[in-house]
Amino acid sequence: MILRVKKNLKLADAIWQMEIEGDFPYNKVQAGQFINIRVGQGHDHLLRRPISIAEVRQDEGYLTIVYRVVGQGTKWLSRLEPDMPLDILGPLGNGFTVEEGKYSLIVGGGIGIPPLYELAKRLSAKVDRLDIILGFRSEHDVFWIDRFKKLASVDLFTEDGSLGTKGFVTKGISEILADKERHIENIYACGPIGMLSAIKGLIGKLQIGGGASLEERMACGVGACYGCTCMTTNRESKRVCADGPVFSWQEVDL
Ligand SMILES: Cc1cc2nc3c(=O)[nH]c(=O)nc-3n(C[C@H](O)[C@H](O)[C@H](O)COP(=O)(O)OP(=O)(O)OC[C@H]3O[C@@H](n4cnc5c(N)ncnc54)[C@H](O)[C@@H]3O)c2cc1C
Ligand code: FES
Repeated sequence: MILRVKKNLKLADAIWQMEIEGDFPYNKVQAGQFINIRVGQGHDHLLRRPISIAEVRQDEGYLTIVYRVVGQGTKWLSRLEPDMPLDILGPLGNGFTVEEGKYSLIVGGGIGIPPLYELAKRLSAKVDRLDIILGFRSEHDVFWIDRFKKLASVDLFTEDGSLGTKGFVTKGISEILADKERHIENIYACGPIGMLSAIKGLIGKLQIGGGASLEERMACGVGACYGCTCMTTNRESKRVCADGPVFSWQEVDL
């Protein structure tokens, strides 16, 4: 489908936010789903690039993505201007399950944070208690903290200590899990694979719900090419684009 760029602005070092408007099934979007964007034009056309849906504004008819410029495709995106057309497929994949009434924790690292914003919006309206832990490399990479703070309490970590607490998000999670007063029921996470793997290690045998959102390089994006597989704990191969990107902590082998 062809939509249009509404806004495209730089948020932090190499991080951009784009609002995309037009006819889209906004009411069908689950938090954690993604769109596959055709990048480049004519002979310079590359494969589509998967980017998570960061926010949906059904009332105003637009959705927002946040992306890091890492290569040709995302560089091309950063050059787009308002009113330019954008060819997208979506919403794709299986997102997070929003469970009512549970004490929930959201954990995000770097460019894994965007899809957790739509999730935080939905959870904050439905759960008893929501805590959020966000981690970045340094203060230069930080974005959208104010938005998250409007929804719940936020613990901020940076690897170099330039903002918030110095260290990794796992420090914050360990403290919460060790606190006898806080019985976390669901942990929802998105970020680098090392972070997800460390969280799974901390969860261990605890019966924690929620899930981890994975990232893999993708080709078709719709489950046809098996180019994006990950392993389950039962040694089954699953497609991140069609079976995920969100998997339960118990199912995914990290
Ligand atoms: C389900 C899903 C959701 C995603 N959501 C977001 C998002 O919200 N914001 C965002 O900035 N990015 C997101 N990504 C990653 C994004 O798709 C890639 O960064 C993008 O495709 C890079 O395209 P490019 O042409 O700019 O870079 P390329 O020229 O294709 O690659 C540049 C560099 O980035 C690395 N790279 C490319 N794709 C990935 C990937 N999927 N995982 C790890 N490394 C990669 C390459 O190995 C290479 O080193 C998501 C990926 C998936 C699978
Ligand atoms: S990218 Fe083709 S199956 Fe996932």
